[in-house]
Amino acid sequence: MKEEKKRSRDRASWDKRYTEGELPWDSGKPDVHLSEVIEAYRINPGKALEIGCGTGTNSIWLAEHGFAVTGMDISPTAIEMAKAKVVAAGVNCRLLVGDFMVDQVPGAPFDFVYDRGCLHVFEGREELSRFASRIADLLAPEGMWHSLIGSTDGPPRDIGPPRHSATNIVAAVEPHFEILELRSTTFDREGHGQVRAWVLVARRRGRSLKFDFPAQGFLRGVN
Ligand SMILES: C[S@@+](CC[C@H](N)C(=O)[O-])C[C@H]1O[C@@H](n2cnc3c(N)ncnc32)[C@H](O)[C@@H]1O
Repeated sequence: MKEEKKRSRDRASWDKRYTEGELPWDSGKPDVHLSEVIEAYRINPGKALEIGCGTGTNSIWLAEHGFAVTGMDISPTAIEMAKAKVVAAGVNCRLLVGDFMVDQVPGAPFDFVYDRGCLHVFEGREELSRFASRIADLLAPEGMWHSLIGSTDGPPRDIGPPRHSATNIVAAVEPHFEILELRSTTFDREGHGQVRAWVLVARRRGRSLKFDFPAQGFLRGVN
C-alpha cells in the first residue's frame, strides 16, 4: 500500500481496507514478540485487552494461553472476521467494534494490554500521549502493556507501516508507565523484508509523572 502523507484514520477507511482485503499487516500468524514478552516478563494469564485486534490472530493466541481476552477494533468488518476465526479456533474472546480513543472499553481493569500496530497509526506526541494515558486508565496497578510500533530507523521507504522515533514514544509513554524495554526489531523476522519496529514493554505507574523535555534531550523528572 502507498502510505498517504496524512493518514486517513476514520472508521470507514479502516473498514474499506478489510472489505477490500488490503491487509499487509495481517500475517495470519501470532506475532513472535508477543509470546517472547509474555514469557520473558512472566505475565500470568489474566484479563487482557487487545487494541486494534484486526482479524483476531493474536487475541486468539492469548485466549489459547489462558487469558480472558477483549479485542477491540474500529473496523466492523475486522471484528466480523475475528469472530469467525474465534469460532473456528474454539476459544472465547469478547470482540467489540469501537474507537479506542473515544469509546468506553468495558471490562477494565485489565492486567495486560497489547497492541500490534495500533498506537503507531496515531501521529504526533499529543495523540500518542492520549493513547498511552487511556491505556494506563484501563490497566490494573502494575498492569503491563506491550506494543509493536513502526520505527523511524531503517532505509527510506514510501510504503509500509507508520514510523515513530524512540524519543516520541518515550515522551508519550514514560509519564504513565515504567518503560521496561524499548528494543529495536523487525516486523516480520521470519519472512519478507526487514521493516524496522520497536518492541515496547511498559508497566503502569502508581501515579503519572510530569516530565520536562529540554532541547538537549535529557529527561528531567519533575514530580
Ligand atoms: C496496522 S493494523 C494492525 C491490525 C492487527 N493488530 C494486526 O496486527 O493484524 C491497525 C488496526 O488498528 C485498527 N484501528 C485503527 N484505529 C483504531 C481506533 N481508533 N480504535 C480501535 N482500532 C483502531 C484498524 O482497524 C486496524 O485493524
